[in-house]
Amino acid sequence: MFRIDNDVEEILLDEATIADVTSKLAAKITEDYMDSPRKLVVLSILKGSMPFTTDLVRQIPLPLELDFMKVSSYGAGTMSSGQLKISLDLMRDDLDEIDILVIEDIVDSGNTLSRLKKYLADKGAHSVRICTLLDKPSRREVELVPDYCGAVIPDKFVIGYGLDYNEKYRNLPYVGVLKPSVYM
Ligand code: IMP
Ligand code: MG
Repeated sequence: MFRIDNDVEEILLDEATIADVTSKLAAKITEDYMDSPRKLVVLSILKGSMPFTTDLVRQIPLPLELDFMKVSSYGAGTMSSGQLKISLDLMRDDLDEIDILVIEDIVDSGNTLSRLKKYLADKGAHSVRICTLLDKPSRREVELVPDYCGAVIPDKFVIGYGLDYNEKYRNLPYVGVLKPSVYM
């Protein structure tokens, strides 16, 4: 039997660390949104942020709605014409009345989220904030600072807890570094 953990070089965030990071983020988010008069919409970016979203929202005791988008980014960060590819769009007509909290697994170049933020703002969202489990700031190509961040990590390719390599490893319960031999 092939076990997916055979391909993990090193564990970066184990299950206990993820639980701790998630509950701290949830507490901060709860504090920040509890007095907002608007509807809170937690917008989970498929597929990578699925485990993080489910763990996070269950620790936010506020009325909120869950929504989903599937997006990816095309083109280099230096190209101002860089495109956001939307394969599942947000279908709502109340954007001017809602606070959107985007949930992402990882911010790398920052292209996807900066384009998504602009897209949602252009559609009229009252506010858009970003919560990411992981951040690789050393890889940034555009200016993007997440409002909520679980952990800053070094420039290594990570998998697990939603993050994939060629669609595999999303079901690992922790975040680990992929053995370079897998993609070399
Ligand atoms: P960005 O537009 O470069 O910030 O891309 C962010 C997206 O790239 C994430 O949502 C992930 O899908 C993917 N990504 C970036 N770094 C990693 C990684 O280390 N492991 C898995 N996916 C990654
Ligand atoms: Mg992703």
